[in-house]
Amino acid sequence: MIRDFTGRVCVVTGAGSGIGRALAYELAACGARLELADIDAEGLRTTADRVARLGAAETHTQVVDVADRAAVQSWADATAARFGGVDLVVNNAGVALTATVEEMDWDDFEWLMGVNFWGVAYGTKAFLPHLRRSDAGHLVNISSVFGLFGVPSQSAYCAAKYAVRGFTESVRHEMRLSGSGVGVTTVHPGGVRTDIVRNSRAAIGRDKDEVVALHDSLSKTSAQRAARTILKGVRRGRARVFVGLDATAIDVGTRVLGSAFEPLVRRVSRRGAPLAPAPQSAAGPGSAPGTEGLSSLGERFTAGGYSDPVTDG
Ligand SMILES: NC(=O)c1ccc[n+]([C@@H]2O[C@H](COP(=O)([O-])OP(=O)(O)OC[C@H]3O[C@@H](n4cnc5c(N)ncnc54)[C@H](O)[C@@H]3O)[C@@H](O)[C@H]2O)c1
Repeated sequence: MIRDFTGRVCVVTGAGSGIGRALAYELAACGARLELADIDAEGLRTTADRVARLGAAETHTQVVDVADRAAVQSWADATAARFGGVDLVVNNAGVALTATVEEMDWDDFEWLMGVNFWGVAYGTKAFLPHLRRSDAGHLVNISSVFGLFGVPSQSAYCAAKYAVRGFTESVRHEMRLSGSGVGVTTVHPGGVRTDIVRNSRAAIGRDKDEVVALHDSLSKTSAQRAARTILKGVRRGRARVFVGLDATAIDVGTRVLGSAFEPLVRRVSRRGAPLAPAPQSAAGPGSAPGTEGLSSLGERFTAGGYSDPVTDG
C-alpha cells in the first residue's frame, strides 16, 4: 500500500485538464515523480509548467491517445524503463457524449468507448506487469456515478463506466487471489467542476451549451477536492472511492431502492433537464436531459448527511 507518494513514480492519463491535472498538482506537492499523459499537448504543457513549481521530484510528459492500444503499450514500457519502475497508475482520461441511443452515431459511440473503456483496459494491461514489480503498486481506474445507475441520453457513457467498474472489480479479485500486493481502486465521482462537458460531443440538434451550463451549476466538488479524495482513498487502500456527497448519496440510494430508483431518475429527467430525450413529436433541438436529475437525486439522498466521501465498498 502506498502510504506516502514522495519519490513514488505516479502515472496519470488525462493530465491536461480537470481531475487529472489536479491529481498531478497534488502528487507534485507530495514530491512524487510524475509521468503525465494527454492527447492535448497544450493542456499537458500547462500542467507540466505548474508541477515543476509545486515540487515534483521529476516530471515527464507524453502526448498519448489512450484509445490507441499500441501507443499505450509502448508508452507504458518506456515509462517503466525511464523511471526504473512504476508505483501508481491512474487511468483517468475521459470524454462525454449526450445522445439517446436512437440519435447516436456509431462513430461517436465508438469514440467514447475507445477513450472511456478501451483506454482504461489498455492502460491497465500495459502497466500491470510494472505495478507487480513495485513494493506498493496501485492501480486506480476512474468510473463515475454513471457507473452506478442508467441515465437517459448517457447510454454510451454509462456503458463505458459500468464496464470500467466491472473490469476493475475483476482485476481487484485477480490481484488478491494471485497473492499480488497491487492495490486496485475504482473511483465513482459525482459532479466535479471541470471542462468535461465543454469538451464533449452531443447529438445533432442538441444544445450542448445548455448541458454545459447545467453541469457547471450543479457540480459541487472542485477538481482539487476530487484529487485529494482519490489520493486519500489510495493511501487507505480503498476498493471503491466515491467523490462528493452526491456520489455517496447515489450509491446508497441505488443500493437501498434497487429498481425503485429508476422511476425517480425518470421523474427528475422529465423536468426539462437537458439530458431527457426529445419527445417523439418534437423532432427539434434542445430537450436533452441529465445532470439536473443527477444532482437532484444526489440531494435527495444527501438529506441524511454523509460526512466522509471516501467509502470502502
Ligand atoms: N467532471 C465530472 O463531473 C466527472 C464525473 C464523473 C466521472 N468523471 C470522469 O473523470 C475523468 C476525468 O474527467 P474530467 O472531468 O477531469 O474531464 P476533463 O475534460 O477536464 O479532462 C479529461 C482529459 O482527458 C483528456 N483526453 C480525452 N481524450 C483522450 C485520449 N483519447 N487520450 C488521452 N487523453 C484524452 C482530455 O484532453 C482532458 O485533458 C473522466 O474519466 C471522466 O469520465 C468526471
